[in-house]
Amino acid sequence: MRIAIIGYGKMGNIIRTIAHERLHDVVTIDPMGKADFKEINEESLKDVDVAIDFTTPTVALENARASAMQGKNIVMGTTGWYDDLEEMKEAVKDIGFIWSGNFSIGVNMFFKIVEEASKVVNNVEDYDASVFETHHNMKKDSPSGTAKMIADKVIENIERKDTIVTDKFDRAPEKNELHVASMRCGKIPGTHTVTFDSQADTIELTHRARGRKGFALGAILAAEFINGKKGFFDINDLMKDIIGGK
Ligand SMILES: NC(=O)c1ccc[n+]([C@@H]2O[C@H](COP(=O)([O-])OP(=O)(O)OC[C@H]3O[C@@H](n4cnc5c(N)ncnc54)[C@H](OP(=O)(O)O)[C@@H]3O)[C@@H](O)[C@H]2O)c1
Repeated sequence: MRIAIIGYGKMGNIIRTIAHERLHDVVTIDPMGKADFKEINEESLKDVDVAIDFTTPTVALENARASAMQGKNIVMGTTGWYDDLEEMKEAVKDIGFIWSGNFSIGVNMFFKIVEEASKVVNNVEDYDASVFETHHNMKKDSPSGTAKMIADKVIENIERKDTIVTDKFDRAPEKNELHVASMRCGKIPGTHTVTFDSQADTIELTHRARGRKGFALGAILAAEFINGKKGFFDINDLMKDIIGGK
């Protein structure tokens, strides 16, 4: 398969390495730096099967339009364009498109595990729940988007929890509140822990990333998935392919 990597930044670089490991041809497109091309057009997308976009929110929609105009399928890894979801659907209606804010297969497995665990905990009143995430000291936001997604899974599946609290507490938490806490330190690539705690014991589920490779491999698997398909897909469609189930 021939892949165009749009956005040759941190993610683009790792995706290129993994695409080569999986024996794909790669062309890179980025207005700055050492990419093969500066623009998305007929020339840069010649013979390309799938374009993978890891750029910035402000250009995600126009990049998708430019790739769709050339009839190229798209993996959209760029985050933060979600207010334009309807415009995006319209822009890519004639091609194959798959998107996710987190392409890590391990994280998406973790989401499913948290969902199932929360269903079990829902039936046992004695257990409280919380979410804790740690990241490197360069990260600009907290809690992480992944922590918010994990918290949503807990809330959706434990009926007695319906409110996420990310602030510090100056009082005891209410029973319906799910505390989501963050810590920033050193070079930690990203750790997410869900804790279920009762009078008798503690159950902890942890996903610990080793770096950005997990996202990059997921993006390549998504490219292999979307190659030759038409329609609007998200990571759950890819996960069904990988692990089966709903
Ligand atoms: N879905 C996931 O699993 C996942 C995982 C990690 C990151 N992300 C997201 O992926 C995006 C990129 O992350 P990153 O860490 O790789 O950022 P990054 O290192 O800043 O890379 C982004 C690259 O895109 C380039 N770019 C900007 N506008 C472009 C355009 N119109 N056409 C082509 N290239 C363009 C940037 O060039 P300039 O530097 O010249 O602006 C930069 O080289 C972010 O939105 C991030 O949130 C998603």
